[in-house]
Amino acid sequence: MADVTASGTVLVDNIGELVTNDPSTGEGPLGIVRDAAVLVVDGVVTWVGARGAAPDADAAVVDAGGRAVLPGFVDSHGHLAFAGDRAEEFAARMSGQPYTAGGIASTVRATRAASDAELEANVVRLVAEARRQGTTTVECKSGYGLSVADEARSLVVASSHVDETTYLGAHVVPAEYADRRDEYVALVAGEMLDACAPHAGWVDVFCDRGAFDVDEAREVLAAGISRGLRPRIHANQLEAGGGVRLAVELGAASADHCTHLSDADVDALAGSGTVATLLPGAEFSTRSPYPDARRLLDAGITVALAADCNPGSSYTTSIPFCIAVAVREMRMTPSEAVWSATLGGARALRRDDVGHLGVGARGDLLVLDAPSHLHLAYRPGVPLVSAVYRRGLRAA
Ligand code: NIG
Ligand code: FE
Repeated sequence: MADVTASGTVLVDNIGELVTNDPSTGEGPLGIVRDAAVLVVDGVVTWVGARGAAPDADAAVVDAGGRAVLPGFVDSHGHLAFAGDRAEEFAARMSGQPYTAGGIASTVRATRAASDAELEANVVRLVAEARRQGTTTVECKSGYGLSVADEARSLVVASSHVDETTYLGAHVVPAEYADRRDEYVALVAGEMLDACAPHAGWVDVFCDRGAFDVDEAREVLAAGISRGLRPRIHANQLEAGGGVRLAVELGAASADHCTHLSDADVDALAGSGTVATLLPGAEFSTRSPYPDARRLLDAGITVALAADCNPGSSYTTSIPFCIAVAVREMRMTPSEAVWSATLGGARALRRDDVGHLGVGARGDLLVLDAPSHLHLAYRPGVPLVSAVYRRGLRAA
């Protein structure tokens, strides 16, 4: 298999099963084309068709050897700008301790103490780890700085390594504001937002028990929106509060976690354009009940799957792991889980250039060391991603 294409121009030929996620290009919701080839010119898909039938192009040729090719994974939810780890906290949970939002404070201490270079190295390491497992689009939040300077530098450090950045000054109230939470909310919606908005595309709030209530979340999100940021929300992870309905009220692109949902929450999502982003790594690592994806899918709600990589509740960058868990524990079919981790993630980020391999899409794809996308769930824990291309360039 060719190692590098310097130009972003590559022909991937001899594909046994190509997932395009474009029903007008192939069969079913995944738009599957068998015995296929895909041509990427200057980083963009220009042709999809039968194996051996590609138009002439000055392209490096990759022989997929009859294996499956999928769009690269779109991981729409990550917290990569941090320092330290919380392995002891994880071990304590596995001995019966509950997960609480309070653990975030220890990562805040480590993050504030880290140099810019250390923070950047952590982001780079985790993005590379994600790439090796097929992720070609990465979103990264701030949220472990919780001061004006530390939130802004988290976003600056992340922004040159990821595709989407999200301001999460409202992750928790930091210790020094414990008795002055109103002042902290005002800071997040004021001076901190001013410093962060130039480096972020999105604004997020952890709206849940132990973090921020619905009114506080509304204030922060509305301030972000007025500065041109688009809203997304951590909602209903720890309890069935009002976060999901706030997401719908504000037209948020995504409500993330959705672990505990009332019927009213499901109805609200069903009548909205808000994606439900499910994060099975968090339930796995906090030993919590999984969200019920089937309930959402049966209500016609768009579901995304993301890794939620962070040192507390979900220290994984592996979308294949999330797909396997979602299929086994959340009542998704293997095909639904693959769609949710690709085009679903793109919808959660309101991107139409990634998550599919129709003509005009970004040339982001992965080659599986397997004949079908079904193997991602069928062969859990096996490193099946054998090559990753991003904008037509070999990325892993
Ligand atoms: O998405 N839920 C809030 N934030 C992270 C966890 C943060 C932490 O525990 O450090 C999450 O799961
Ligand atoms: Fe998160």
